[in-house]
Amino acid sequence: MHPDIPQSVMDAVQQARHLVIFTGAGVSAESGVQTFRDALTGLWAEFDPAQLATADAFMRDPAQVWGWYEWRRALLLKVQPNVAHRAIARLQRVLPKVTLITQNVDDLHERAGSSAVLHLHGSLLAPRCFDCARPHPLAPPAGEPVQQAVQPPRCSSCGGHVRPGVVWFGEELPERALAAAFAAAQSCDCLLSIGTSGLVHPAALIPTMASRAGATVIHVNPDPVPVRHAAEYSLQGPAGLIVPLLAGGWLD
Ligand code: OAD
Repeated sequence: MHPDIPQSVMDAVQQARHLVIFTGAGVSAESGVQTFRDALTGLWAEFDPAQLATADAFMRDPAQVWGWYEWRRALLLKVQPNVAHRAIARLQRVLPKVTLITQNVDDLHERAGSSAVLHLHGSLLAPRCFDCARPHPLAPPAGEPVQQAVQPPRCSSCGGHVRPGVVWFGEELPERALAAAFAAAQSCDCLLSIGTSGLVHPAALIPTMASRAGATVIHVNPDPVPVRHAAEYSLQGPAGLIVPLLAGGWLD
């Protein structure tokens, strides 16, 4: 199947002077990473974010929370970047300026060859001390991914619990990454929003910011995304199909 992509959309991407690519969990779905809000298969259909994705939950039960993120970190070792990640890395190589902003806590963009990725929600691979914030490098997880409670390690500096390096509900986003993302959204001429439900703020503001600043905004999602501006488009389909087409075929 070849979806009909209007020529104006192809041109907006391929002739962009500054393209912003904004990704969510959907870009990693075809690699086998669970999204959060897909009705039957999303992580939040199976697990309660209040028990796993808040600082309160970690203080209440550090082993349950740490074990859940360790399970996700181990799952990440089992998956590979897909054609959408690789097409994004290709756009970064061929266009004059591309800012890649992701809400994802995986490293699949980097493994596909992308550089300078702005991780707005942190990373599964950058744990730090809950008390003093000192980074705590971890060896790759050994063995098969298992969902179980695991006591978090202790910080080598202050003895506090080590926590996952992700942004939890109620926490601030990394200041520098967020400022760079907002600045890029306000100065780009085209923004490609791929695989996000657009429900989590402040990241969800990014496509609207770009639209308001006059950029062409293109959404890629199997579900239709409501469009509110003249230069806003919804391309309905999986990222693995649509993004390589926008990147000018699959040539690498
Ligand atoms: P969601 O799970 O909310 O949304 C994923 C989106 O991807 C949905 O709109 C799906 O329709 C779409 N999708 C599914 N398969 C796809 C495919 N093959 N190609 C393209 N799109 C596809 O994930 P996010 O919007 O990323 O926060 O969620 C935002 C934040 O909420 C996450 O970063 C996470 C979560 O709580 C933190 O980890 C802090």
